[in-house]
Amino acid sequence: MKRLAILGASGHGKVVAEAAELSDWDEVVFFDDAWPKISANSVWPVLGNTEDLLNSLNEFSGVAVAIGNNSIRLKKLNLLCEQGVALPAIIHPNAVISRYATIGDGSVVCAGVVVSADTKIGAGAILNTGCSIDHDCLLAEAVHISPGARLAGGTKVEVCAWVGIGAVVRQLISIGAYSVVGAGAAVVKDVPERTTVVGIPAQ
Ligand SMILES: CC(C)(COP(=O)(O)OP(=O)(O)OC[C@H]1O[C@@H](n2cnc3c(N)ncnc32)[C@H](O)[C@@H]1OP(=O)(O)O)[C@@H](O)C(=O)NCCC(=O)NCCS
Repeated sequence: MKRLAILGASGHGKVVAEAAELSDWDEVVFFDDAWPKISANSVWPVLGNTEDLLNSLNEFSGVAVAIGNNSIRLKKLNLLCEQGVALPAIIHPNAVISRYATIGDGSVVCAGVVVSADTKIGAGAILNTGCSIDHDCLLAEAVHISPGARLAGGTKVEVCAWVGIGAVVRQLISIGAYSVVGAGAAVVKDVPERTTVVGIPAQ
């Protein structure tokens, strides 16, 4: 019996739970720091907060972190990593991932995602519904590529950067650490770290 604990009982958590159930997990339960105010997330129970999870790790075959905020997700993943717990990537069965791509531990790959050859996805990434990451891309830890965003070949996305829904990124572009690409933007030049860009072309 493979039991998965998910930390973060948000809407994104539901997406992660369903992807896990559709792959090879038998049972999914949640933990969230808003417990006991939140005791369920849709059909899945919320059993406690982060501390409760840390005290019950031996009951689970793996833990996923479903927190949209990249920095908080990375912090929680590092905390769990220190405990030596398995942090499996959760991959929806309808994602298409090249056999020549790698997906880091603790990442979530949602339905309809395409990851092409020789692309490397770091730990704790969110590849959200229907995004596409073309060949030779390099995504660092804890990035979030939002639904429908498209990264052309050779794109680099540094730690904790967020590419908004429906954005497009031209080939060979770098998105700096902790930067944000706004919804629907078209990025045609490098984005420095800790910078927000919006529009077409993005600036
Ligand atoms: C870019 C973004 C982070 C800015 O958020 P914010 O700091 O709260 O900005 P505001 O909503 O206050 O908007 C500030 C200004 O930027 C403009 N703006 C905001 N987002 C924009 C976008 N994506 N494209 C173009 N203009 C945008 C607003 O119209 C506003 O302009 P104004 O000052 O002339 O009225 C946000 O709008 C965004 O695009 N987030 C991505 C959302 C997403 O991908 N969600 C999916 C989650 S899975």
